[in-house]
Amino acid sequence: MCLTIPAKVVEINENNKTAKIDSGGDVKEVNVSFILPLKIGDWILYVNDLAIKKISDDDAFELLRFLENNKTIDISKLSDKFQEIIKASNIRELTKDEIIYLLNTEGEEKEALFSEANVVRKTYIKDFICIHGIIEFSNYCKNNCSYCGLRRDNDGAVRYRMSVSEIIETALDAVHQKGYKLLVLQSGEDPFYTDDMLVDIVRGIKDGCKAFVLMSVGERGYECYKRMKEAGASGALFRFESSNPELFNKIHSDGGGANKNLGNRLEHLKFMKELGYYIATGSIIGLPGQTIEDLADDVLMMKKWANMISMGPFVPGKNTPFANEPHGDPEMNFKMIAVLRLIMKYARIPVVTALETLVGEDGRKRAFFAGANSLMFNLTPEKCRSDYRIYDNRFFDKNSIWEKYGLFKYEESYKMIEDNMLKELEKNKI
Ligand code: 5AD
Ligand code: SF4
Repeated sequence: MCLTIPAKVVEINENNKTAKIDSGGDVKEVNVSFILPLKIGDWILYVNDLAIKKISDDDAFELLRFLENNKTIDISKLSDKFQEIIKASNIRELTKDEIIYLLNTEGEEKEALFSEANVVRKTYIKDFICIHGIIEFSNYCKNNCSYCGLRRDNDGAVRYRMSVSEIIETALDAVHQKGYKLLVLQSGEDPFYTDDMLVDIVRGIKDGCKAFVLMSVGERGYECYKRMKEAGASGALFRFESSNPELFNKIHSDGGGANKNLGNRLEHLKFMKELGYYIATGSIIGLPGQTIEDLADDVLMMKKWANMISMGPFVPGKNTPFANEPHGDPEMNFKMIAVLRLIMKYARIPVVTALETLVGEDGRKRAFFAGANSLMFNLTPEKCRSDYRIYDNRFFDKNSIWEKYGLFKYEESYKMIEDNMLKELEKNKI
């Protein structure tokens, strides 16, 4: 589903069922036939030129609080180099050095970077915030990634698995009762679920509702991904974690035979693309030993593989080898979002839980104003949710206003995701 900025009615023409609305300073005409009667001063939500819903003043202010940003920055006061890079981002690919420059910005230039990325978001994808759901259906994992609380050697983890029917039910409930249109199904790498079971899960969901399913089940190999695609999966969420092969090996050094290497990851991304998967991928920001050059390479690797970005700050987890390492810098995460928005104008860039865990709910607003455009809500059943401890004290949102106004719960919302996905998949073929 999808959330957007409210607009105020400034003029009504009852005869032809149109109204002039003020949307953040832009006045435009929309068709209001579905929401009459209407009076001047009412707040509405709309898509393209169609008004969808009337909302109360209080709710409008609440939404504006999240989505409106009046801050403008005069970039002509900033360094020539900064201005050149921003201009270049509109006409050509940025070089690694230019990306590093942007990631190193501070103070006024950093704010200007966010502001530019926000302008790109508003220009290319308007004020729509897409709301997706994630169901974490098992926290068992055969791997031993040094950063992750679900790692095999973490004896302190309380493990759970949801049954195939429970997973399908949870997904169908999210779509039918709450209006979700895109769901991510995630687990540790858990061989308990055979390829047949994963296929049954995808098929069960696709047969029962109209929604996009993204699988996040790790390195399952070509055959499994082929079968899940045939069963109706639209995409895969599969992070490469780090583009630096040495750093990748270091954070997966305790793999205990799990055969983790960057080459395998890229192999997976390659065949996913060939199979027509819509790919969500990215890295962890602030891993021990990671450099700014690594992050610039991560940006370039995301640009190469991602249709949707999946990245977030490192948060140290109890009982992991990295338990005492410092967490990733949220400001760097915001800068990564902004740079990616400048170079991937239409990409879906979600605000991830790890960022909200570090910064709180304000992290959301800041991420939107740095160019992010989507949210991922946790739909894991309450009884399991707190045990999916990739790290501790995970942020859980109250979801209220978002679920209430995550409107466009109907066909428009599905269509918007579909259009965006088709555009992205077309690009993958080139
Ligand atoms: N901090 C941040 N992200 C983490 N992940 C796992 N552990 C951590 C952590 N401690 C991320 C990985 C994985 C995703 C499911 O969660 O990038 O791909
Ligand atoms: Fe398993 Fe994924 Fe955690 Fe690695 S990051 S231990 S593969 S759940």
